[in-house]
Amino acid sequence: MVETLTPPQVKFLPYGRQHISQADIEAVIAVLKSDWLTQGPAVPAFEKELAERVGAKYAVACASGTAALHLAMLALGIGAGDEIVTSANTFLASANCARFVGAGVRFVDINVDTGLIDCQALERVLRSDTDRRIKVVIPVHFTGQPADLPAIYNMARQHGAWVVDDACHAIGATYDHEGKTCPIGSNRHSDLTVFSFHPVKHVAMGEGGAVTTPSSELAEKLARLRCHGIRKNSFINNEMATATAGEINPWYYEMQELGYNYRLTDIQAALGTSQLRRLSWSLRRRQEITACYRRLLQDEFADGTVRPLAVADNITHAYHLFVVLIEFERLGVSRARVMTSLRENGIGTQVHYIPVPLQPYYRRHCGTGAGDFPNTEKYYARALSLPMYPDLSDTDCERVIGELKKALQSNR
Ligand SMILES: Cc1ncc(COP(=O)(O)O)c(C=O)c1O
Repeated sequence: MVETLTPPQVKFLPYGRQHISQADIEAVIAVLKSDWLTQGPAVPAFEKELAERVGAKYAVACASGTAALHLAMLALGIGAGDEIVTSANTFLASANCARFVGAGVRFVDINVDTGLIDCQALERVLRSDTDRRIKVVIPVHFTGQPADLPAIYNMARQHGAWVVDDACHAIGATYDHEGKTCPIGSNRHSDLTVFSFHPVKHVAMGEGGAVTTPSSELAEKLARLRCHGIRKNSFINNEMATATAGEINPWYYEMQELGYNYRLTDIQAALGTSQLRRLSWSLRRRQEITACYRRLLQDEFADGTVRPLAVADNITHAYHLFVVLIEFERLGVSRARVMTSLRENGIGTQVHYIPVPLQPYYRRHCGTGAGDFPNTEKYYARALSLPMYPDLSDTDCERVIGELKKALQSNR
């Protein structure tokens, strides 16, 4: 009998993926066997652990990072006539949250070496806002590296604006300030911090998000708005709320403001809590993988044609993404062809991000166009995100860099 030969299988390495343990599976099964699939005890348990982990006073969990950003805008009372300012290099949701509430968006250019918002450019935008329409600054801790929050907070406060930091990439990251280590999410230099628990993020729930804040008032408002704006105290319709004897009617609730169903389920929250308990391990693995990539890049591309993003020395990076800057034009290679050939060889890559002001919607809305954000465009022309997730081995990293080298040579 002739044996059928099958080609050797190459493991596909996506640019990001979740890590699911037996403990995660058991945590989810326990909820499935319990009385509560949603609005049960797993959600406050997750909120408590999240607040403790990031050093926040309050954490309010919700359906996604996008929902968290929308809730943040609603809780701060942002609306028509107001504006927010955010980085030109981010995911759409950092800007879209303003449009959800009818506010305008202004973008700020970035530092080309880090991909983070350029604080000098931010200062110029705030100075130009003489009629003080800008009510919120939304810095993004891109790839997991903290933006310069102390400087941004100072500028925003001088302008009378709130700071909502988009930490969807950065749970577990920290920055040093005046000899103290400040965790992202502790709101040391922000009013609200927003997290995402999408599967490519450090803590995976399928979909999920959260907002942290030092303000009990904002925390209560966020929690109400996540559930239709329903409140069970401080009623306006007192005669409807109370029985003749004066006690509150047990069924009574009141909606005084417009909210949404942005609730997180207990199934997601239980998975999140279990994942959160492995966050330190996940961060350590991401740092080890980064060190391995950096060594390999130094060896294989000593001429600097492929280099990692710059990292400040007073921070702990959460490495949600590992972005390299590649001199495609100088090398005479097309990024599309490199990505396709990497994919054919089992390596997934992605581009983070297409400049948001160049999206047709924002070109229309803001009147932005090519050339307005030169550093963002320069960065965008070079960026490529390589696989980054805790399960990657050193051998996987060697394969990624080896295939990248081949793809860059063979597609010239
Ligand atoms: C920077 C940033 N902000 C916001 C979001 C939105 O999060 P979600 O996908 O959970 O809605 C993402 C998600 O990728 C993101 O990367």
